[in-house]
Amino acid sequence: MRPLFIAGNWKMNPSTEADAVALAEAVKEGVGQDHAVRVAVCPPSVFLHRIDTALANSPVGLGGQNMHPEPSGAYTGELSGAMLNDVGCTHVILGHSERRHGLGETDAFINQKLHAALKAGLIPIVCIGETLDEREGDRTEAVVAEQLDGSLAGLEPDQMAGVVLAYEPVWAIGTGKTASPEQAQDVHAFIRARLADRFGEAIAARVVIQYGGSVKPDNAADLLIRPDIDGALVGGASLKAADFLGIIEAARTVTQAGKA
Ligand code: PGA
Repeated sequence: MRPLFIAGNWKMNPSTEADAVALAEAVKEGVGQDHAVRVAVCPPSVFLHRIDTALANSPVGLGGQNMHPEPSGAYTGELSGAMLNDVGCTHVILGHSERRHGLGETDAFINQKLHAALKAGLIPIVCIGETLDEREGDRTEAVVAEQLDGSLAGLEPDQMAGVVLAYEPVWAIGTGKTASPEQAQDVHAFIRARLADRFGEAIAARVVIQYGGSVKPDNAADLLIRPDIDGALVGGASLKAADFLGIIEAARTVTQAGKA
């Protein structure tokens, strides 16, 4: 069984460093030294350095929410992979739907970032997922396939094994509508089959594929028990330590019980 990986995407929250540190410290305390489940938090970039300090001696990883493909230069308002690495990041979220749809990020641009993130020694969490229109038009698999092919272009198989994917149906993000465990599993299985075609079965079997979209403590176990769902990328529920820890606890229970 692939180790389950729960990551918190704090987005543009909370508003103060004090609240951000308090949240990180509560997660650190709740996780303790338990390594059974992989955990990471992805705070706003202005808080990363301070939160890296707060997470000292904790297995909780630290991630950025975005980065620019270039290593340095005249890119006002941007951050490089090297900078994220320097402030203690282990991970970086790439291609979140709020950036694809709100800010016009393309698969080609996300692909450049992916190569840069790997070069900077970061573990990328690459997000993909269809909109409601696309699902209702029966285009989920076509859209996900196109995003996968474009975002992952030019990767070597051994690089792919270290990339985390997050399947996040856009209609389920922040809406309270979760994909049913069956709907999510179907797409995860499709993603893994496509990875197997491109990179081989052995690599596809190693890739961690998170589900994201209104994951909460009370629906997490039903999702995480599915064979191809290897974790969760959590937005809203990662802003309350008790809820985030509840999702981690669900992952721990699934890990201990094992999957069928
Ligand atoms: P949500 O967000 O859990 O609030 O739906 C998930 C995400 O956007 O990563």
